[in-house]
Amino acid sequence: MSGKAWGGRFSEGTAKIVEAMNASVGFDQALAFEDIAGSIAHSRMLAKVGILSGDEQRAIEDGLVAIAGEIREGRFAWSVSREDVHMNVEGALADRIGRAAGRLHTGRSRNDQVALDLRLWLRRELSALGEGLAATVRKLLALATEHAALPMPGYTHLQRAQPITFGHHLSAWAAMLSRDLDRLLDARRRLSISPLGSGALAGTPLPVDRHALAAELELAGITVNSLDGVADRDGALETLGTLSILMVHVSRMAEELVLWTSQEFGFVELSDAFCTGSSLMPQKKNPDIPELLRGKAGRVFGAQVALLTLMKGLPLAYNKDMQEDKEPLFDAMGTARQCVAILPDLLSAMTVRPDKMTAALKDGFLLATDLADWLVEKGVPFREAHHIVGAVVGHCVLHGKRLEDLSLEAYRELSEHFDETVFTALDVARSLGRRSLPGGPAPEAVRQGIARLASELAELEARLAAGGPSALERALTRGESLPPAKATRSEALATGAKVGS
Ligand code: ARG
Repeated sequence: MSGKAWGGRFSEGTAKIVEAMNASVGFDQALAFEDIAGSIAHSRMLAKVGILSGDEQRAIEDGLVAIAGEIREGRFAWSVSREDVHMNVEGALADRIGRAAGRLHTGRSRNDQVALDLRLWLRRELSALGEGLAATVRKLLALATEHAALPMPGYTHLQRAQPITFGHHLSAWAAMLSRDLDRLLDARRRLSISPLGSGALAGTPLPVDRHALAAELELAGITVNSLDGVADRDGALETLGTLSILMVHVSRMAEELVLWTSQEFGFVELSDAFCTGSSLMPQKKNPDIPELLRGKAGRVFGAQVALLTLMKGLPLAYNKDMQEDKEPLFDAMGTARQCVAILPDLLSAMTVRPDKMTAALKDGFLLATDLADWLVEKGVPFREAHHIVGAVVGHCVLHGKRLEDLSLEAYRELSEHFDETVFTALDVARSLGRRSLPGGPAPEAVRQGIARLASELAELEARLAAGGPSALERALTRGESLPPAKATRSEALATGAKVGS
């Protein structure tokens, strides 16, 4: 006898080296609360359909609650020979309550159990990450409001291009992160359904009530096919895709902070608390946190590629390969949550330097396009105007002058279309103010953009609040007394149905 839950057909024990490779408990214990919540919900459902007696169900539920307490307090003895989180919990339950524990796994397989646990874990983690993103977007919108009218150079190819405002730039960051929040909520909605009842791959002949189980966990529905129910890891893949795009955004914001805090730009200073020094060069103040944010993107992309590679070409349904989904997923989620959690404080640590931004607006011919637009308004075709202003800029470069330094005579030598009103075009405030179309950098348009982002954020926050972890999971994680079982199947369905997000 091997002493394993599956040991019936084995006559020899497992080799130690095999046990070590096979075991996932070292990392999948992160799913403990989801596993226990899933088991409690399963036991309640089994009692509802008459597979468990009331006494058996109570013994199982009380035992599982006690085990959750031990885990919360760090007193639970995890065992490698019990392989994974599922068998550790079930084994501990048997140690506590004896034979009745053996009825918990009725109509269930570890394959649908782990699929459920992962969905519940993703729902919880995406919800927490969503909170952090919402807080960051809120912070960005507050800063953008403060700096809605502060002019700064806008860039393409990292070359000074046209004037924008700092509030406009911060609003762009807010728009990026609010799309991430939207995407994350989409992913959460799609994965918040129950695979339990898929069994190992072919369901179960026992009269389990899949809808009641789903409703107990406030999941919006059930998976449609038992093979797909245990073989599908789309929720994890989609989450990693979402996290990857989020980290692209975080890394771009971080890179801009690295640039802006450099002496070459100097647009922003970061407080000492967010920087470190050099052990060699006494003058250094390095933007380590933005650099780390930039660098951590790589881990998340790596996790996505790992999981895509893992799942590619796997035959249906469950394969043990899929146990390898967890470490990259956990690492990526932990990384993304850590990065997002630090963003609001990092933004608070910025001191903006309007003087440096203004100085940078002086050089670089940022108003050349406005000059061309001025010619267009005089009736010159844009291509011609572009050519004329190109010649003006070339003239300035040659003589070391700015656009506003040239005399009217000099302008008229370059084109007869110029007259004395040309100098009105060479004003940053005018340039900004005229770009007042929706989405533009005029301070008024920036404020309107902020208002739109704020109302979108309110909608996203409402969705976020509606589709998080069930009351059962929340109580279990916090060590509070559990909500009662949903009394009837129809009551359960009614609660399940309103969870749409
Ligand atoms: N630890 C396993 C995993 O994460 C649980 C499912 C095991 N199923 C099985 N048939 N061996 O994938």
